[in-house]
Amino acid sequence: SKDMAAGMAAGSSSVGDGGHRFSSRFGFVLAAVGAAVGLGNVWKFPYLAGENGGALFVLLYLIFLLAIAMPILIAEVLIGRRGHVSPPHALKRQASEFTRRSGTGWYAIGVAGVVFGLVIMSFYSVVSGWIFDYMWTGITQGFGAFDPGRSRAHLAAMQASVPRLLVLQGLFIVLTVAIVALGVRRGIEAAMRWMMPAMGLLMIGLVVYALVAGAGSRALVYLFAPDWTRLTVPVAAAALGQAFFTLSVGLGGMMTYGAYLPDRASIVRSCTTVALADTAVALLAGLAIFPIVFAEGLDPAGGPGLIFVTLPIAFADMPGGDVFGVAFFAFLFLAAITSAIALYEPTVAWLEERGIRRLHGTLIAAGGSWLMGLVTVLSFNEWNNVHPLAWAGERFAGATPFETITLGLDNLILPVGALLIAWFAGRLMPAPAVVGELSADPPWVARLFRLAVRWWAPLGILALLVFNFAGMTIG
Ligand code: TRP
Repeated sequence: SKDMAAGMAAGSSSVGDGGHRFSSRFGFVLAAVGAAVGLGNVWKFPYLAGENGGALFVLLYLIFLLAIAMPILIAEVLIGRRGHVSPPHALKRQASEFTRRSGTGWYAIGVAGVVFGLVIMSFYSVVSGWIFDYMWTGITQGFGAFDPGRSRAHLAAMQASVPRLLVLQGLFIVLTVAIVALGVRRGIEAAMRWMMPAMGLLMIGLVVYALVAGAGSRALVYLFAPDWTRLTVPVAAAALGQAFFTLSVGLGGMMTYGAYLPDRASIVRSCTTVALADTAVALLAGLAIFPIVFAEGLDPAGGPGLIFVTLPIAFADMPGGDVFGVAFFAFLFLAAITSAIALYEPTVAWLEERGIRRLHGTLIAAGGSWLMGLVTVLSFNEWNNVHPLAWAGERFAGATPFETITLGLDNLILPVGALLIAWFAGRLMPAPAVVGELSADPPWVARLFRLAVRWWAPLGILALLVFNFAGMTIG
């Protein structure tokens, strides 16, 4: 069946993007880093850290990233590469290979993962749209006038306008569709060779400026001196959810890129590079944001607008800030769009295997995520007093529909998805199949990986899920 699957992947390579295999491990690493590094690092990580009290959240996030999300990432890539097809088919075929059943249940799970990728894109596209507004503002007016009051007002004015949000979101989706449908992903991967280091340098520059000109030492304490007395289940659950989100795991999305990874390349080494790059960007983002937050008296728990309020203030004060600011938002856009591509790719690959043309599949994915994105757009204005989780106790009482989606993903969907993936790689897949895929690494790597996906990752996830929901209904 492996030959058949490989044949399929090779057969469909004539469609669209000119070959569904990366030419090297490096090609995979570039694309996977592109998928992992995005708004999750620069936008979501800082505001979640702020909402969850700082250092303890950061530490838990790092622990969960290493101990739980990394093994799940490896599992996804491994399942994908062994199948060389889209997530639903990779799961179904291998499930029926291992269990002698039809694998229809796993197919449905794969489809659910693909669809939840579009749910992520629904809000991802809206927030990515905001980046255009800030680039445009930087180019036309500069950031000079951005003091805290002005910055908050700018964000509020943008979020209040439904047409503006729709146009910005639409622009982002159209650009993503163009890239996915035209298959210029290869070109993007090539461009990422210099874009990634450039973005890294820009971030480091921003961090240095923030640490020197802002409240550097306060930010360092806030981010890296954990106060264990503040340990709560919701903080831990948020950290786990963010660890999954930032590595793009839990929905099978990384199986798609795994399917394009050459057979002999080391999965573990590739995934380690991805995780290191991803973590570096998140920590740099935190170090860039919080010195400004404290220096300007902003609220660390200010929510999803945090970076959009904070960064322009930094650009206003720093020498060459307008150029730097526009460049920064331009790179943030690139980081976002390489993740957005990876959010559409599983749907498109799956539909392609079902005989739907690449362009049509892309349009279906785009239409679905655009429509669902209306929920996010309206959450910042018309529906900002709609609270779908009011019944679920105090903790979620204030959540808007948009926050319901992100909380639902982080606290429920991604952990459950990760649990299923751990089950698949740890208990459904026989050891020889796993060992075979990890043969580029020393044998202890495969042993450690199997321990992780059979025992500590699922047990950790399950424990947090149970405590989280028990706590939600009791208190
Ligand atoms: N990791 C991406 C980011 O941090 C977002 C993301 C979450 C994602 N799940 C995904 C991207 C699945 C691609 C596929 O911005």
